[in-house]
Amino acid sequence: MDNENSESLITNDLEYITNNLPEEFQALANKKILITGGAGFLGYYLVNSILYWNKLHHNQIKITVYDNFIRGIPQWIVDLKEENKLEIVKHDITQPLPENIDDLQYIIHGASIASPTYYRLYPIETMDANVNGLRFLLEYCKRQKEKNQPVEGFLFYSTSEIYGDPQSENIPTPETYRGNVSCTGPRACYDESKRYGETLCVNFAKEYDLPIKITRPFNNYGPGLRIDDRRVIPDFSRDILADRDIVMFSDGSPTRTFCYVADAIIGYYKVLIKGRPGEAYNIGVEKPEISMRDLAEKLVDIAKITLGYQGKIVNVASPEKDYLVDNPNRRCPMITKAKQELGYEPKIDLNEGLKRTLIWYRDNRQLEATR
Ligand SMILES: NC(=O)c1ccc[n+]([C@@H]2O[C@H](COP(=O)([O-])OP(=O)(O)OC[C@H]3O[C@@H](n4cnc5c(N)ncnc54)[C@H](O)[C@@H]3O)[C@@H](O)[C@H]2O)c1
Repeated sequence: MDNENSESLITNDLEYITNNLPEEFQALANKKILITGGAGFLGYYLVNSILYWNKLHHNQIKITVYDNFIRGIPQWIVDLKEENKLEIVKHDITQPLPENIDDLQYIIHGASIASPTYYRLYPIETMDANVNGLRFLLEYCKRQKEKNQPVEGFLFYSTSEIYGDPQSENIPTPETYRGNVSCTGPRACYDESKRYGETLCVNFAKEYDLPIKITRPFNNYGPGLRIDDRRVIPDFSRDILADRDIVMFSDGSPTRTFCYVADAIIGYYKVLIKGRPGEAYNIGVEKPEISMRDLAEKLVDIAKITLGYQGKIVNVASPEKDYLVDNPNRRCPMITKAKQELGYEPKIDLNEGLKRTLIWYRDNRQLEATR
């Protein structure tokens, strides 16, 4: 691990992504794409994989990012802005679109707070981004079609949380499962606005014959995910890098499957280009379904060898009173639809992905967002 550094691993990831998306990126060549929420975790790879492809090709893909920087401006965005590599617009997607918006051929709508800790702090803003913000973008697609400047592909980021807490007979969970979700609990601002967002997408696709597609990500992790985001892998990594015990807020029994970001990004671009209009696709991995305790132990083992970490795991009640309310016990996708229809085939295993993530956190601790 000490021989590797985050720069080389990011380059390897970007090469892996672009090598796995030859047709998809070719479809984007010479086109304009808008990525909302492009300054976030998934934005880091969505943007940088296109910039990597652009370095190797003449028929450039033009990118615009809209983001309101609700949690600060990450340094990598500041750097890219200074290099004039892409257009970055400070725009809150819950507000009407800028009047000078370009004719865009592709749109990815990722703007939404995604961390449970933060969407509970900003519930109204979270709902607005997934409903009103989405609606502005869908209306834009409708107008562009009427103007004979059609949008060729639109991707809405939904979430695996739309399934809520599935009973065991619905795990692994296929897209046809309808969910077991509270509409009033502390997570509902996120889950229910994503569900309504999907309904908007399906009906705009049908009514106006628009190429609107939906993805349901299952727990992505990796470089670019802020260490203070309060999702579980950055939380455990933060304890490791601070050389203190790993604090677990649950009893360690809930399970998840974790998909390394490079594999997930391949899935998202496949849904954008090859997905069927009005259809939703699970993107994640089916195995291993791992408990939070086993995940923490795995991280301890990797960090012991590579960072000389000596800590252990301790259970502590969360200071957030709603931390575990409606927290799903198990989450594991069925990804047959994306495999069969899109050729999606995630390959990076959990040990390797966690190792890369720890390297990135080790090397990028100074990359705190600035306000
Ligand atoms: N990462 C995952 O595992 C995961 C899982 C399920 C769903 N998703 C969805 O994918 C999308 C991206 O997730 P992420 O992990 O990159 O999250 P993130 O929080 O790292 O990034 C989201 C970005 O959206 C921006 N944003 C929030 N509200 C906005 C608004 N009103 N206007 C403009 N920008 C706004 C934020 O500033 C941030 O840069 C989200 O829609 C999220 O719900 C992600």
